[in-house]
Amino acid sequence: MGLIRRKVHTNHGAKKPEDFVKLPNHVAIIMDGNGRWAKKHRLNVAMGHRQGVETLREIIRHTDDLGIKSLSIYAFSTENWNRSPEEVGALMQLILDFFASEIDELDEKNVRILILGDKNGLPDKQRDALMEAERRTGDNTGLNLNIAVNYGGRAELTRAARELAAEAAAGKIAPDDIDEKMLADHLYTRGQGDVDLMIRTSGEMRLSNFLLYQCAYAEFLFPTVLWPDFRVSDYDDALTAYGGRERRFGKRL
Ligand code: FPP
Repeated sequence: MGLIRRKVHTNHGAKKPEDFVKLPNHVAIIMDGNGRWAKKHRLNVAMGHRQGVETLREIIRHTDDLGIKSLSIYAFSTENWNRSPEEVGALMQLILDFFASEIDELDEKNVRILILGDKNGLPDKQRDALMEAERRTGDNTGLNLNIAVNYGGRAELTRAARELAAEAAAGKIAPDDIDEKMLADHLYTRGQGDVDLMIRTSGEMRLSNFLLYQCAYAEFLFPTVLWPDFRVSDYDDALTAYGGRERRFGKRL
C-alpha cells in the first residue's frame, strides 16, 4: 500500500467555532503511534511517519479554520536521535518535504511558524529550511504554528536558566527580579501563553518532556487512535471534551 493522500477540505461534518461552548487558545499535540500504524499495515516505519504528516496537514488546517491561536506539535525530540539512522533520516527528510510543500499555503494563510528546540543541532539543510520558514512567516499574525524539532522541555528550561543567569551576571537584572513571567519570556513559546489542551494519540499517557512548564494547568486527553488514523472528527471530539472540562487552576469553584 502506498501513501494515502487524503483530500483536504472535504471535511464534511467538521465542526465550526460556534459548535463549541469553549475552545482552547493553545493546543499541543504529541503525534504518537506512527510506528504501530506502519507495523499494523506491514509497512516500514518511514511510511508511518509519512502518513502521519498527512494527518498533520489536516489538523493544522482545521486548527486554523477554528481560529485557535496556537498549535504546538512534537515533530522530533532530543531523544529521537537514539532511533535507527534510517528512521532519523526519514524523519529529517519528511521535515524538509513538509516545509517545501506547505510553506506557501501556510504563509498565505497568515500562519506564523516558530521552531521550538535547538536548530543548531540539526543538519545544515534542515536548519536552513526551518530558519527560512521562521523568517518568511515571522510577521504573520494568524495561527502560531510551533513545531518542536530537536526539542526537550528540560533543555528549554535549562537554556532559560542559563540566559537569566547571564543577564544577572552582567548586571542587567537582579536575581530577585526573576519571576514566573520573566522565566516564561525566556521560553521558546514566549508571548503565547500556557497550553490549554494537550492531546497525545495512541493511548500512551506520558508527557515525554514536551512543554513541561507550559503544561502546568493543561487539560490532558489521550485518544487511543493511532496518529495516522486521527481524523478531524477525532480532533473535534477532543475539543468538545475540552469544552466540558471544568478548569479550576487550584481554586475551589
Ligand atoms: C511518534 O510515533 C512520532 C514521532 C516520533 C515523530 C512524529 C513526526 C511526524 C508525524 C512527521 C514529521 C513532522 C513534520 C513537521 C513534518 P512513534 O514512531 O513513536 O510511534 P510508535 O510509538 O507507534 O512506534
